[in-house]
Amino acid sequence: MSRAEGKVALVTGAASGIGKACAERLARDGFLVIGCDLRSDLSGIVSLDVRYEVEWQSVIAGIDRRYGRLDVLVNSAGVSLEGDTIEHCTPETWSTTFETNLTGPFLGMKHAIPLMRKRGEGVILNIGSILANVAGGEAAAYSASKGALSQLTKSVALDLARKSPGIRCNAILPGYAATPLLERWPATTHIQRTPLGRLCRPEEVASLVVYLCGNDAAAVTGSAFPVDGGYTAQ
Ligand SMILES: NC(=O)c1ccc[n+]([C@@H]2O[C@H](COP(=O)([O-])OP(=O)(O)OC[C@H]3O[C@@H](n4cnc5c(N)ncnc54)[C@H](O)[C@@H]3O)[C@@H](O)[C@H]2O)c1
Repeated sequence: MSRAEGKVALVTGAASGIGKACAERLARDGFLVIGCDLRSDLSGIVSLDVRYEVEWQSVIAGIDRRYGRLDVLVNSAGVSLEGDTIEHCTPETWSTTFETNLTGPFLGMKHAIPLMRKRGEGVILNIGSILANVAGGEAAAYSASKGALSQLTKSVALDLARKSPGIRCNAILPGYAATPLLERWPATTHIQRTPLGRLCRPEEVASLVVYLCGNDAAAVTGSAFPVDGGYTAQ
């Protein structure tokens, strides 16, 4: 029997890229995975627009009714939109970026924690970005939203450490990874900027997710881990 047997994980943004890789890896490791996405046209994907509280309430209530537990929440849904420089970023681009990348994880944690608290255990992983730590001139709203997500992660971790020490909260900060989100830029630019000389693979982010979900990481909370091919060491 795997150590994850019977455990339930919810992954947002599970239709593509890093969220998809995390959902597949957690399922392979024995978790019962509820993969959610805006794109609910795909089989096995549960419809959830992370920007809306009522949708979160409905998905979490469904998990509570059906399984009575939630062990892992991976907030991976995110957007990086065109025209995200300070002079071109429209209020709509700004709002959509913040609502998806920051309000989404906020709502997810707000509604997942009470269900995790039923068993006194849980793991929350927020997929941030290296652009939380180093800025991207071509990603104004995106960098700001990911910077805020890192701080939100620490604040939640500290609150949980006092009130529910069995629930941990960490951020993973991917570098440039080969997913559809990156397709609007030429890959060569990102490869040249990355010391390992290649893009990261979504599966490499998923490997860290699995480690942070396990008991080997029981003392790890309030931290942010780059998976970036050395990018932020520069
Ligand atoms: N790819 C990279 O280089 C990179 C680098 C750093 C951080 N990230 C972060 O990793 C996460 C995953 O990105 P990815 O590269 O896998 O992108 P992706 O575009 O492949 O996947 C993102 C998924 O999120 C979903 N989504 C978008 N808005 C949503 C909403 N409102 N509600 C529910 N689902 C929604 C999309 O439908 C898509 O399936 C994001 O948070 C992103 O910011 C990616």
